[in-house]
Amino acid sequence: MPVIKTRSRQRNAIAGGSMEAAADLGVLFGCHSGICGKCATRVLSGLGNLSAPTEQEAAMGLEPGCRLMCQCRIHKGTVKLDLE
Ligand code: FES
Repeated sequence: MPVIKTRSRQRNAIAGGSMEAAADLGVLFGCHSGICGKCATRVLSGLGNLSAPTEQEAAMGLEPGCRLMCQCRIHKGTVKLDLE
């Protein structure tokens, strides 16, 4: 079962499920559509466990290592986010 972690907390996730599951770990969401950028979060480790970046993420010009949590899915392993 995939796991989403922050520096101090973690939760189990569903394989192939949305990273919107990270809302209860402190990720803030707005549009849920890859437009507002509010959910942009730096991924400290496990980037390879996420789905490929979407067109919306590419268009936003995110900093390296950052993903839009509303746009990516977790497939396996552990993804650690740069959050307390
Ligand atoms: S919630 Fe708006 S870009 Fe993710």
